[in-house]
Amino acid sequence: MTAQTIDGKAHADGLGARISGAIPSFREQTGRPPGLAVVLVGTDPASEVYVSSKGRMARKLGMASFEHILPEATTQQQLLDLIAQLNADDSVDGILVQLPLPAHLDSLPVIEAIDPAKDVDGLHPSSAGRLVSGLPGLVSCTPLGCLMLLRSQLGNLSGLDAVVVGRSILVGKPMAQLLLAENCTVSMAHSRTRDLPGKIRQADIVVAAAGQAEMIKGDWIKPGATVIDVGTSRIVRDGRKTLVGDVEFASACGVAGAITPVPGGVGPMTIMCLMHNTLLAACRRKA
Ligand code: GUN
Repeated sequence: MTAQTIDGKAHADGLGARISGAIPSFREQTGRPPGLAVVLVGTDPASEVYVSSKGRMARKLGMASFEHILPEATTQQQLLDLIAQLNADDSVDGILVQLPLPAHLDSLPVIEAIDPAKDVDGLHPSSAGRLVSGLPGLVSCTPLGCLMLLRSQLGNLSGLDAVVVGRSILVGKPMAQLLLAENCTVSMAHSRTRDLPGKIRQADIVVAAAGQAEMIKGDWIKPGATVIDVGTSRIVRDGRKTLVGDVEFASACGVAGAITPVPGGVGPMTIMCLMHNTLLAACRRKA
C-alpha cells in the first residue's frame, strides 16, 4: 500500500481564499480590516522567520499586521505593558506572542495578560478551559489545522481510535480535546508511555507532536491509518540539512492510508488557522 499524501498547502490555500473573500464585507461594516499583532522578543532565527511569514500572510489576505520586534533585554514589565496597550487598541483583533520567550521572561503571566477575546493562539487558560467545557472560544492553530485535515480526509471521526503523541499545551492537549469532541476514543502518549509502538498500532488516527525526528516507524502504524505529522526537526542526511517530521515518512507511506508530509502538511495549515482565528476574533468583537 502507498499512502495518500495529504496536501496541507492546497487545503491552506483553499481556507485562505475563503478568509480573503470574507474580508471586504468586514471592512465595509467596520471601516477597517481585521488586525493581527505579533510580538517577538529577541533574535531567534526560526522565530524571526515564523513572525515575518505570519505578517506577510495577514497582509496578503487583506488584514492589518502589527509586528512588534522587541530587544532580547526586554523586561517582563515592558512586555506586559505592550500587551496592555494591544488589549486596549481597537484596531487589534488578535495578539500572538511568539514562543519560546528568552529564558529571563516568564511566558505564563504574559499569556494570561492577553485579553481572551484576542487570544488567537488559544493559549490563555480561559481559551483552554472553554475548549474542555465545550464552549465557543479560540482554539490553538496547529491542532485546529490538524482537525480540519482529518475531517476533510475522513469525514465523520466518530468512534475512531486516535492516539496523540506529545502533551504540550500548544498542540497535544488541545488536539486530544478536539478529537474527544469529535467522539473519537483518544489516548495521549508521551515520553513516559510504556509500549508506544503497541499504543500507536491500535490507532485509526495518529497525531505525532513529540518533537523527536522520525521517532515513529512505519511498522508501528496500523495498516490504513491516517497519520498527521506535526513535527519539524532539522537533521543532516547524506551531508545535507533536511526538514523531517516525527514520523519516518518513507516507511510509514508503505503502511498508512494517508499521511501529511513535512514540509507541506501541517505547517501551512497552522499559519492559515491563525488567519482564521484572527478573522473569527474580529467578527466576534464587532458583534
Ligand atoms: N512557537 C512555535 N509555534 C508557535 C505557535 O503556534 N504559537 C506561538 N505563540 N509560538 C509558537
